[in-house]
Amino acid sequence: MKILAATHNKGKMREYAELLADLPVAWVSLSDVGIETDVEETGDTFEENACLKAATYACQSGLLTLADDSGLEVEALYGAPGVQSARYAGPGASDEDRYRLLLANLEGVPDEKRKARFVCVIAIATPHGKVFTAEGARGGYIIHEPRGEHGFGYDPVFWIPGYRATMAELEPEVKNRISHRALAVKAIRPRLERLVRYDSALSLGAEHRDEAEAASNE
Ligand code: IMP
Repeated sequence: MKILAATHNKGKMREYAELLADLPVAWVSLSDVGIETDVEETGDTFEENACLKAATYACQSGLLTLADDSGLEVEALYGAPGVQSARYAGPGASDEDRYRLLLANLEGVPDEKRKARFVCVIAIATPHGKVFTAEGARGGYIIHEPRGEHGFGYDPVFWIPGYRATMAELEPEVKNRISHRALAVKAIRPRLERLVRYDSALSLGAEHRDEAEAASNE
């Protein structure tokens, strides 16, 4: 069974394939199936954007499709940058421009009020129009100066109290175990397993249709 990981980001594609490596599926990318277009992220929530991407690419490719949307929510900024995380400092800005703007917007905010969370919503869409979602979130605080060299995005300013480190100071294997993305994968896994069972029951023939339906609706 083939699953489309609907991302142009090779790092994310690898991360999903690794986190779900035990499933009997072949992962393909958007470029593998010849899709060059981007779906505009017009939703107001991570869930809306993830569903929009998964459903559009599933329809275009005819494959079971996994898409995600993620970002950082800061309590003192009423949830910003949120779904705008990638576009926070405008077009052409770098990761550093974005976290510097965040630090500037938090100037004068005391430590205990710098609570934040990384959120990731994964959507899985079937080519027939069913969409399933799951969310993962990792809480922390925004510190005052960047620390660490790993990761990307807002990782250098995101402090995780339980690890006494920023996300960018964690080794990639550790981040990939505890991140909002890893938690969302964990949450969506049972659904994905049922969809894989559904697909293999269907491929056995029409007499297994009831079994397949039951697996997909469990
Ligand atoms: P997207 O889900 O790839 O659209 O990511 C949206 C934006 O959220 C990224 O460009 C980053 O700025 C931020 N972001 C999402 N996940 C992470 C993460 O694991 N670390 C740091 N920043 C992240």
